[in-house]
Amino acid sequence: MKTETSIQGLSASLNPARSTRKIIGFVPTMGNLHEGHLNLVREARQLCDVVVVSIFVNPIQFGPNEDFDNYPRTLEHDSNLLAEVGCDIVFAPSVEQMYGKHPRLTNISVGEITNDLCGLQRPGHFDGVAVVVAKLFNIVQPNYAFFGQKDYQQLAVIKQLVRDLNMPIEVIGVPITRAEDGLALSSRNGYLSVENRQIAPMIYKSLKIAEQHLHEGQSLSETLTQIRADLSRTGFEVDYVEARTPMLQKVDQFNQDVVLFVAAKLGKTRLIDNLQVKYTST
Ligand code: PAF
Repeated sequence: MKTETSIQGLSASLNPARSTRKIIGFVPTMGNLHEGHLNLVREARQLCDVVVVSIFVNPIQFGPNEDFDNYPRTLEHDSNLLAEVGCDIVFAPSVEQMYGKHPRLTNISVGEITNDLCGLQRPGHFDGVAVVVAKLFNIVQPNYAFFGQKDYQQLAVIKQLVRDLNMPIEVIGVPITRAEDGLALSSRNGYLSVENRQIAPMIYKSLKIAEQHLHEGQSLSETLTQIRADLSRTGFEVDYVEARTPMLQKVDQFNQDVVLFVAAKLGKTRLIDNLQVKYTST
């Protein structure tokens, strides 16, 4: 496995694959990798000839009160994990390499879907994600790019970006990797106290109960209210519990497939999760 830190170096490493029309798969990450990321790489490995993983903590997607400076940077450990799952090239550029010395004047805004759900609490976050992902796509020029469904809204934003700008890339959403007790894997789980780590799986449990109640005929609004109540009672500070269509449009009845979204805090740690619920007419 090679590690490249410059755009030029990465191009030199990828040129032989490009000129022989090899299928290039790309997994963008911010490092501090866990099994969820490794599953994205495994998926890429199955579908592609060459697998590139980027590790770049992107400053422009962090708000002023977010944890950019303290975000864990664990390149050596990440590289060891990536080598084990068959990554070919790690691209780990500096901020200067990605953003250069000149001020960036171009912004990318993917419209309404970025101002909803997590976008409400994190203004500008998805613009920052869209810019860095567009830059990385131009640098790597992959055939396939892999993103986790855990960040469902991010995945939807990137799919929209690729569609709107005719980027010749297929975006693949990979199902959420969960711990045995159901907690969706996230770099943030490491911040949970021992006590809160035991409570955290309640998010997924409440989503699964909600799915069952929807299938039994409970209304969508009643179901969402119940999730909020269950989580608050268990000690979460609920940020939002919402339902949207798979394309992130608002929905008030369970008469089509829906996605249930939760964002809730345990102590200082904000957790998110989602569940896609299929509608079957009787
Ligand atoms: O999901 C992430 O880790 C980041 O938002 C991404 C897609 C790598 C962009 O910085």
